[in-house]
Amino acid sequence: MASGRRSSRISGFYKMPLEERVGLVADYAGLTQEEVELIRSGGGLSLEAADRMIENVLGTMAYPLGVAVNFRINGRDRLIPMVLEEPSVVAAASNMARLMREGEGIRASSSDPVMIGQIQVLDAPDMEAARRALGEAKPRLLELANQQDPVLVKFGGGARDLEIRVVESEVGAMIVIHLLVDCRDAMGANAVNTMCEALAPVVEELTGGRVLLRIISNLADRRLARAEVVVRGEDLGGEGSVDDIVAAWAFADADPYRAATHNKGIMNGVVAVALATAQDHRALEAGAHAYAARGGRYRTLSRWSKNEDGDLVGVLEMPMAVGLVGGATRSHPVARLALKVLGVSTATELSEVMAAVGLAQNLAALRALTQEGIQRGHMRLHARNLVVMAGAEGDLIGMAVEALIESGEIRFDRAQEIVRRLKG
Ligand code: MEV
Repeated sequence: MASGRRSSRISGFYKMPLEERVGLVADYAGLTQEEVELIRSGGGLSLEAADRMIENVLGTMAYPLGVAVNFRINGRDRLIPMVLEEPSVVAAASNMARLMREGEGIRASSSDPVMIGQIQVLDAPDMEAARRALGEAKPRLLELANQQDPVLVKFGGGARDLEIRVVESEVGAMIVIHLLVDCRDAMGANAVNTMCEALAPVVEELTGGRVLLRIISNLADRRLARAEVVVRGEDLGGEGSVDDIVAAWAFADADPYRAATHNKGIMNGVVAVALATAQDHRALEAGAHAYAARGGRYRTLSRWSKNEDGDLVGVLEMPMAVGLVGGATRSHPVARLALKVLGVSTATELSEVMAAVGLAQNLAALRALTQEGIQRGHMRLHARNLVVMAGAEGDLIGMAVEALIESGEIRFDRAQEIVRRLKG
Protein backbone atom coordinates (compact mmCIF):
# COMPACT_ATOMS: atom_id res chain seq x y z
CA MET A 1 0.00 0.00 0.00
CA ALA A 2 1.34 3.43 -0.83
CA SER A 3 1.44 6.00 1.92
CA GLY A 4 -1.68 8.15 1.57
CA ARG A 5 -2.21 10.88 4.16
CA ARG A 6 0.36 12.89 6.04
CA SER A 7 -1.71 14.74 8.62
CA SER A 8 -2.01 13.15 12.03
CA ARG A 9 -4.94 15.45 12.89
CA ILE A 10 -7.82 13.00 12.82
CA SER A 11 -11.06 13.83 14.56
CA GLY A 12 -13.28 11.06 15.87
CA PHE A 13 -10.57 8.40 15.43
CA TYR A 14 -11.74 6.69 18.62
CA LYS A 15 -15.29 6.40 17.27
CA MET A 16 -14.25 4.57 14.09
CA PRO A 17 -14.72 0.82 13.91
CA LEU A 18 -11.45 -1.00 14.60
CA GLU A 19 -11.10 -2.16 10.97
CA GLU A 20 -11.39 1.43 9.76
CA ARG A 21 -8.73 2.58 12.23
CA VAL A 22 -6.35 -0.09 10.99
CA GLY A 23 -7.07 0.89 7.37
CA LEU A 24 -6.40 4.54 8.10
CA VAL A 25 -3.09 3.86 9.86
CA ALA A 26 -2.09 1.41 7.10
CA ASP A 27 -2.76 4.11 4.53
CA TYR A 28 -0.94 6.75 6.57
CA ALA A 29 2.18 4.65 7.12
CA GLY A 30 2.13 2.72 3.84
CA LEU A 31 1.80 -0.65 5.58
CA THR A 32 1.84 -3.80 3.45
CA GLN A 33 -0.99 -6.34 3.53
CA GLU A 34 1.34 -8.60 5.50
CA GLU A 35 1.89 -5.90 8.10
CA VAL A 36 -1.84 -5.28 8.40
CA GLU A 37 -2.30 -9.02 9.01
CA LEU A 38 0.40 -8.84 11.66
CA ILE A 39 -1.56 -6.17 13.57
CA ARG A 40 -4.68 -8.29 13.27
CA SER A 41 -2.86 -11.40 14.52
CA GLY A 42 -3.07 -9.98 18.06
CA GLY A 43 0.54 -10.06 19.22
CA GLY A 44 2.71 -10.75 16.24
CA LEU A 45 5.34 -12.77 18.07
CA SER A 46 5.69 -16.42 17.13
CA LEU A 47 6.42 -18.99 19.82
CA GLU A 48 9.75 -19.72 18.15
CA ALA A 49 10.76 -16.05 18.24
CA ALA A 50 9.66 -15.74 21.87
CA ASP A 51 11.64 -18.85 22.75
CA ARG A 52 14.76 -17.26 21.28
CA MET A 53 14.19 -13.97 23.11
CA ILE A 54 14.22 -15.10 26.77
CA GLU A 55 14.58 -18.32 28.76
CA ASN A 56 12.06 -20.87 30.03
CA VAL A 57 9.38 -19.66 27.60
CA LEU A 58 5.86 -21.06 27.92
CA GLY A 59 4.02 -18.77 25.55
CA THR A 60 3.35 -15.11 24.83
CA MET A 61 1.05 -12.50 26.33
CA ALA A 62 -0.68 -9.82 24.29
CA TYR A 63 -1.30 -6.16 25.26
CA PRO A 64 -3.43 -3.62 23.41
CA LEU A 65 -1.61 -1.66 20.70
CA GLY A 66 -3.23 1.74 20.17
CA VAL A 67 -2.33 4.86 18.24
CA ALA A 68 -2.36 8.41 19.58
CA VAL A 69 -3.37 10.93 16.93
CA ASN A 70 -2.89 14.69 16.42
CA PHE A 71 0.82 14.93 17.30
CA ARG A 72 2.93 17.55 15.58
CA ILE A 73 6.55 17.52 16.69
CA ASN A 74 9.14 19.88 15.19
CA GLY A 75 6.67 20.75 12.47
CA ARG A 76 6.08 17.14 11.46
CA ASP A 77 2.89 15.20 11.99
CA ARG A 78 3.19 11.82 13.67
CA LEU A 79 0.92 8.96 14.64
CA ILE A 80 2.19 7.48 17.90
CA PRO A 81 1.92 3.73 18.54
CA MET A 82 1.38 3.02 22.23
CA VAL A 83 1.19 -0.29 24.08
CA LEU A 84 -0.28 -0.38 27.58
CA GLU A 85 -3.04 -1.83 29.72
CA GLU A 86 -4.38 1.40 31.26
CA PRO A 87 -7.52 3.02 29.83
CA SER A 88 -7.66 6.79 29.09
CA VAL A 89 -3.94 7.24 28.42
CA VAL A 90 -4.07 7.09 24.60
CA ALA A 91 -7.18 9.29 24.51
CA ALA A 92 -5.58 11.81 26.89
CA ALA A 93 -2.40 12.01 24.79
CA SER A 94 -4.41 12.50 21.60
CA ASN A 95 -6.58 15.24 23.14
CA MET A 96 -3.63 17.13 24.49
CA ALA A 97 -1.68 16.74 21.23
CA ARG A 98 -4.61 18.49 19.53
CA LEU A 99 -4.14 21.58 21.73
CA MET A 100 -0.36 21.38 21.52
CA ARG A 101 -0.24 21.40 17.72
CA GLU A 102 -1.43 25.01 17.60
CA GLY A 103 1.16 27.75 17.12
CA GLU A 104 4.67 26.36 16.90
CA GLY A 105 3.54 22.94 18.09
CA ILE A 106 5.82 20.79 20.22
CA ARG A 107 9.52 21.48 19.79
CA ALA A 108 11.84 18.63 20.68
CA SER A 109 15.61 18.25 20.78
CA SER A 110 18.22 15.89 22.16
CA SER A 111 21.86 15.60 23.13
CA ASP A 112 24.26 13.20 21.40
CA PRO A 113 23.36 9.59 22.28
CA VAL A 114 26.13 9.20 24.86
CA MET A 115 25.92 6.45 27.47
CA ILE A 116 28.12 5.99 30.53
CA GLY A 117 29.94 2.76 31.38
CA GLN A 118 31.26 2.39 34.93
CA ILE A 119 34.40 0.57 36.02
CA GLN A 120 34.79 0.15 39.78
CA VAL A 121 38.39 -0.06 41.05
CA LEU A 122 39.05 -1.26 44.60
CA ASP A 123 42.24 -1.36 46.67
CA ALA A 124 44.37 1.01 44.60
CA PRO A 125 47.45 1.42 46.80
CA ASP A 126 47.91 5.09 45.83
CA MET A 127 44.73 6.86 44.69
CA GLU A 128 46.53 9.92 43.35
CA ALA A 129 49.07 7.89 41.39
CA ALA A 130 46.23 5.73 40.04
CA ARG A 131 44.26 8.79 38.87
CA ARG A 132 47.36 10.19 37.20
CA ALA A 133 48.15 6.94 35.44
CA LEU A 134 44.59 6.60 34.17
CA GLY A 135 44.59 10.20 32.95
CA GLU A 136 47.84 9.73 31.06
CA ALA A 137 46.63 6.47 29.50
CA LYS A 138 43.34 7.96 28.32
CA PRO A 139 44.10 7.87 24.54
CA ARG A 140 45.24 4.24 24.78
CA LEU A 141 42.17 3.26 26.82
CA LEU A 142 39.79 4.96 24.38
CA GLU A 143 41.47 3.26 21.46
CA LEU A 144 41.20 -0.13 23.16
CA ALA A 145 37.51 0.53 23.84
CA ASN A 146 36.89 1.43 20.20
CA GLN A 147 38.63 -1.71 18.98
CA GLN A 148 35.79 -3.66 20.63
CA ASP A 149 33.15 -2.22 18.30
CA PRO A 150 34.42 -1.28 14.83
CA VAL A 151 30.84 -1.21 13.47
CA LEU A 152 29.80 1.47 15.97
CA VAL A 153 32.92 3.46 15.09
CA LYS A 154 32.15 3.08 11.36
CA PHE A 155 28.71 4.60 11.95
CA GLY A 156 30.21 7.64 13.69
CA GLY A 157 29.92 6.44 17.29
CA GLY A 158 32.42 5.05 19.77
CA ALA A 159 34.20 5.85 23.03
CA ARG A 160 34.51 9.62 23.40
CA ASP A 161 35.95 10.33 26.80
CA LEU A 162 36.98 8.93 30.12
CA GLU A 163 36.29 10.54 33.48
CA ILE A 164 37.85 9.48 36.75
CA ARG A 165 35.96 9.88 40.01
CA VAL A 166 36.68 8.96 43.60
CA VAL A 167 33.57 7.71 45.40
CA GLU A 168 33.44 7.53 49.20
CA SER A 169 31.47 4.48 50.34
CA GLU A 170 30.69 2.19 53.27
CA VAL A 171 33.75 0.09 52.34
CA GLY A 172 36.03 3.07 51.87
CA ALA A 173 37.08 5.22 48.93
CA MET A 174 37.09 3.66 45.48
CA ILE A 175 37.98 4.85 42.01
CA VAL A 176 35.10 4.85 39.56
CA ILE A 177 35.92 5.34 35.90
CA HIS A 178 33.22 6.65 33.58
CA LEU A 179 33.64 5.64 29.97
CA LEU A 180 31.52 7.90 27.74
CA VAL A 181 30.35 6.15 24.60
CA ASP A 182 28.41 7.64 21.71
CA CYS A 183 26.04 4.78 20.92
CA ARG A 184 24.43 6.31 17.79
CA ASP A 185 21.31 4.25 16.98
CA ALA A 186 21.92 1.53 19.58
CA MET A 187 20.64 1.67 23.14
CA GLY A 188 24.21 0.70 23.83
CA ALA A 189 24.22 -1.66 26.81
CA ASN A 190 26.05 -4.39 24.89
CA ALA A 191 28.63 -2.10 23.34
CA VAL A 192 29.33 -0.26 26.60
CA ASN A 193 29.53 -3.40 28.75
CA THR A 194 31.88 -5.08 26.26
CA MET A 195 34.14 -2.04 26.25
CA CYS A 196 34.22 -1.81 30.05
CA GLU A 197 35.07 -5.49 30.37
CA ALA A 198 37.85 -5.15 27.80
CA LEU A 199 39.41 -2.20 29.65
CA ALA A 200 39.44 -3.90 33.06
CA PRO A 201 42.81 -5.73 32.85
CA VAL A 202 44.59 -2.59 31.62
CA VAL A 203 42.92 -0.53 34.37
CA GLU A 204 44.19 -3.01 36.96
CA GLU A 205 47.69 -2.75 35.55
CA LEU A 206 47.61 1.04 35.58
CA THR A 207 46.14 1.44 39.07
CA GLY A 208 47.55 -1.56 40.90
CA GLY A 209 43.98 -2.07 42.15
CA ARG A 210 41.28 -4.67 41.55
CA VAL A 211 38.41 -4.09 39.11
CA LEU A 212 35.05 -5.33 40.38
CA LEU A 213 32.01 -4.05 38.43
CA ARG A 214 32.10 -3.20 34.72
CA ILE A 215 28.63 -2.13 33.67
CA ILE A 216 26.55 0.57 31.97
CA SER A 217 24.87 3.25 34.13
CA ASN A 218 21.15 3.70 33.65
CA LEU A 219 21.44 7.26 34.90
CA ALA A 220 21.93 8.30 31.28
CA ASP A 221 22.35 12.00 32.00
CA ARG A 222 24.52 12.50 28.90
CA ARG A 223 21.73 11.21 26.69
CA LEU A 224 18.89 13.64 27.26
CA ALA A 225 15.74 14.33 25.29
CA ARG A 226 13.81 17.57 25.66
CA ALA A 227 10.34 18.68 24.61
CA GLU A 228 8.88 22.17 24.94
CA VAL A 229 5.51 23.66 24.21
CA VAL A 230 3.45 26.82 24.60
CA VAL A 231 -0.28 26.23 24.99
CA ARG A 232 -2.66 29.16 24.66
CA GLY A 233 -4.31 30.06 27.95
CA GLU A 234 -7.72 30.36 26.26
CA ASP A 235 -7.44 26.76 24.97
CA LEU A 236 -7.03 25.58 28.54
CA GLY A 237 -9.96 27.55 29.93
CA GLY A 238 -8.27 30.91 30.61
CA GLU A 239 -5.60 32.30 32.90
CA GLY A 240 -7.16 30.81 36.02
CA SER A 241 -6.71 27.35 34.54
CA VAL A 242 -3.11 28.12 33.60
CA ASP A 243 -2.42 29.27 37.18
CA ASP A 244 -3.98 26.08 38.53
CA ILE A 245 -1.79 23.90 36.32
CA VAL A 246 1.30 25.81 37.45
CA ALA A 247 0.21 25.38 41.07
CA ALA A 248 -0.29 21.64 40.51
CA TRP A 249 3.22 21.42 39.06
CA ALA A 250 4.65 23.47 41.96
CA PHE A 251 3.08 21.05 44.42
CA ALA A 252 4.79 18.13 42.69
CA ASP A 253 8.13 19.89 42.44
CA ALA A 254 8.06 20.64 46.17
CA ASP A 255 6.78 17.28 47.40
CA PRO A 256 8.23 13.86 46.47
CA TYR A 257 4.92 12.12 47.26
CA ARG A 258 3.24 14.11 44.51
CA ALA A 259 6.34 14.19 42.26
CA ALA A 260 6.32 10.37 42.02
CA THR A 261 2.76 10.43 40.68
CA HIS A 262 3.42 13.43 38.43
CA ASN A 263 6.40 11.62 36.90
CA LYS A 264 4.40 8.40 36.67
CA GLY A 265 1.99 10.28 34.41
CA ILE A 266 4.91 11.27 32.16
CA MET A 267 6.09 7.66 32.10
CA ASN A 268 2.60 6.53 31.06
CA GLY A 269 3.39 8.08 27.68
CA VAL A 270 7.10 7.32 27.53
CA VAL A 271 6.79 3.66 28.50
CA ALA A 272 3.80 3.04 26.21
CA VAL A 273 5.90 4.11 23.20
CA ALA A 274 8.86 2.18 24.62
CA LEU A 275 6.76 -0.98 24.78
CA ALA A 276 5.37 -0.50 21.27
CA THR A 277 8.91 -0.19 19.94
CA ALA A 278 10.34 -2.92 22.23
CA GLN A 279 12.76 -0.68 24.15
CA ASP A 280 14.29 -1.56 27.50
CA HIS A 281 11.62 0.24 29.50
CA ARG A 282 13.14 -0.75 32.86
CA ALA A 283 16.28 1.16 31.85
CA LEU A 284 14.14 4.17 30.93
CA GLU A 285 12.26 4.10 34.24
CA ALA A 286 15.49 3.73 36.24
CA GLY A 287 17.10 6.61 34.35
CA ALA A 288 14.06 8.87 34.67
CA HIS A 289 13.66 8.51 38.42
CA ALA A 290 17.39 8.73 39.17
CA TYR A 291 17.53 11.90 37.06
CA ALA A 292 14.54 13.32 38.93
CA ALA A 293 16.53 12.91 42.16
CA ARG A 294 19.86 14.17 40.80
CA GLY A 295 19.91 17.29 42.99
CA GLY A 296 19.58 15.20 46.18
CA ARG A 297 15.78 15.54 46.33
CA TYR A 298 13.24 13.77 44.11
CA ARG A 299 11.60 16.39 41.85
CA THR A 300 9.54 16.67 38.68
CA LEU A 301 10.97 15.84 35.27
CA SER A 302 8.83 18.58 33.70
CA ARG A 303 8.38 22.26 34.51
CA TRP A 304 5.28 24.38 33.86
CA SER A 305 5.03 28.17 34.02
CA LYS A 306 2.96 31.07 32.70
CA ASN A 307 4.43 33.50 30.16
CA GLU A 308 3.71 37.22 29.75
CA ASP A 309 0.79 36.52 27.42
CA GLY A 310 -0.90 34.35 30.04
CA ASP A 311 -0.10 31.17 28.07
CA LEU A 312 1.20 27.96 29.57
CA VAL A 313 4.83 27.01 28.90
CA GLY A 314 5.98 23.45 29.49
CA VAL A 315 9.37 21.78 29.30
CA LEU A 316 10.29 18.16 29.87
CA GLU A 317 13.89 17.00 29.99
CA MET A 318 14.90 13.45 30.84
CA PRO A 319 17.35 10.69 30.01
CA MET A 320 16.14 8.67 27.04
CA ALA A 321 18.27 5.61 26.35
CA VAL A 322 16.57 4.13 23.30
CA GLY A 323 17.80 2.26 20.26
CA LEU A 324 16.73 1.27 16.78
CA VAL A 325 19.36 -1.40 16.15
CA GLY A 326 19.97 -4.56 18.13
CA GLY A 327 17.74 -6.10 20.75
CA ALA A 328 14.05 -6.78 20.44
CA THR A 329 13.44 -3.55 18.50
CA ARG A 330 14.78 -5.34 15.43
CA SER A 331 13.58 -8.84 16.18
CA HIS A 332 9.98 -8.12 17.24
CA PRO A 333 7.85 -7.76 14.09
CA VAL A 334 5.29 -5.47 15.76
CA ALA A 335 8.06 -3.20 17.08
CA ARG A 336 9.40 -2.87 13.51
CA LEU A 337 5.91 -2.02 12.35
CA ALA A 338 5.46 0.53 15.16
CA LEU A 339 8.67 2.23 14.07
CA LYS A 340 7.38 2.36 10.53
CA VAL A 341 4.16 4.03 11.72
CA LEU A 342 6.21 6.50 13.77
CA GLY A 343 8.46 7.20 10.81
CA VAL A 344 11.61 7.78 12.85
CA SER A 345 14.98 7.06 11.28
CA THR A 346 17.37 7.60 14.20
CA ALA A 347 17.38 6.77 17.89
CA THR A 348 17.64 10.46 18.79
CA GLU A 349 14.53 11.18 16.72
CA LEU A 350 12.71 8.43 18.61
CA SER A 351 13.89 9.88 21.93
CA GLU A 352 12.51 13.30 20.95
CA VAL A 353 9.13 11.83 20.01
CA MET A 354 9.01 10.02 23.36
CA ALA A 355 9.77 13.22 25.27
CA ALA A 356 6.97 14.96 23.35
CA VAL A 357 4.52 12.20 24.24
CA GLY A 358 5.62 12.36 27.89
CA LEU A 359 5.01 16.11 27.95
CA ALA A 360 1.55 15.77 26.38
CA GLN A 361 0.63 12.98 28.80
CA ASN A 362 1.76 15.10 31.73
CA LEU A 363 -0.33 18.10 30.71
CA ALA A 364 -3.35 15.91 30.03
CA ALA A 365 -3.13 14.60 33.60
CA LEU A 366 -2.59 18.04 35.13
CA ARG A 367 -5.50 19.52 33.22
CA ALA A 368 -7.86 16.73 34.21
CA LEU A 369 -6.69 16.82 37.84
CA THR A 370 -7.10 20.61 38.12
CA GLN A 371 -10.54 20.48 36.50
CA GLU A 372 -13.02 17.62 36.72
CA GLY A 373 -10.59 15.05 38.18
CA ILE A 374 -9.66 11.87 36.38
CA GLN A 375 -12.40 9.59 37.67
CA ARG A 376 -15.17 10.72 35.32
CA GLY A 377 -13.33 9.57 32.19
CA HIS A 378 -12.17 6.42 33.94
CA MET A 379 -15.69 5.63 35.08
CA ARG A 380 -17.05 5.87 31.54
CA LEU A 381 -14.47 3.34 30.37
CA HIS A 382 -15.08 1.17 33.40
CA ALA A 383 -18.82 1.26 32.64
CA ARG A 384 -18.11 0.24 29.06
CA ASN A 385 -16.04 -2.75 30.20
CA LEU A 386 -18.77 -3.79 32.62
CA VAL A 387 -21.59 -3.71 30.05
CA VAL A 388 -19.49 -5.65 27.54
CA MET A 389 -18.72 -8.23 30.24
CA ALA A 390 -22.45 -8.34 30.96
CA GLY A 391 -23.11 -9.34 27.35
CA ALA A 392 -23.84 -6.04 25.55
CA GLU A 393 -22.92 -5.95 21.85
CA GLY A 394 -23.07 -3.47 18.94
CA ASP A 395 -25.32 -0.41 19.41
CA LEU A 396 -26.52 -1.73 22.73
CA ILE A 397 -23.10 -1.00 24.28
CA GLY A 398 -23.51 2.79 24.06
CA MET A 399 -27.07 2.69 25.37
CA ALA A 400 -26.11 0.43 28.27
CA VAL A 401 -23.12 2.66 29.17
CA GLU A 402 -25.36 5.75 29.32
CA ALA A 403 -27.94 3.92 31.44
CA LEU A 404 -25.29 2.57 33.80
CA ILE A 405 -23.71 6.02 34.29
CA GLU A 406 -27.13 7.55 34.83
CA SER A 407 -27.92 4.93 37.47
CA GLY A 408 -24.99 6.30 39.51
CA GLU A 409 -24.01 2.73 40.46
CA ILE A 410 -21.21 1.59 38.19
CA ARG A 411 -21.17 -2.04 39.31
CA PHE A 412 -21.32 -5.37 37.51
CA ASP A 413 -24.70 -6.43 38.96
CA ARG A 414 -26.27 -3.13 37.76
CA ALA A 415 -24.65 -3.61 34.34
CA GLN A 416 -26.17 -7.11 34.10
CA GLU A 417 -29.61 -5.79 35.05
CA ILE A 418 -29.42 -2.99 32.46
CA VAL A 419 -28.18 -5.23 29.65
CA ARG A 420 -30.92 -7.78 30.44
CA ARG A 421 -33.54 -5.03 30.34
CA LEU A 422 -32.23 -3.49 27.08
CA LYS A 423 -32.07 -6.87 25.39
CA GLY A 424 -35.76 -7.09 26.27
C1 MEV B 1 -2.45 7.84 36.26
O1 MEV B 1 -1.98 6.72 35.55
C2 MEV B 1 -1.50 9.01 36.09
C3 MEV B 1 -1.84 10.24 36.94
O2 MEV B 1 -1.97 9.88 38.30
C4 MEV B 1 -0.71 11.23 36.76
C5 MEV B 1 -0.77 12.43 37.69
O3 MEV B 1 -1.36 12.33 38.78
O4 MEV B 1 -0.19 13.46 37.30
C6 MEV B 1 -3.15 10.86 36.52
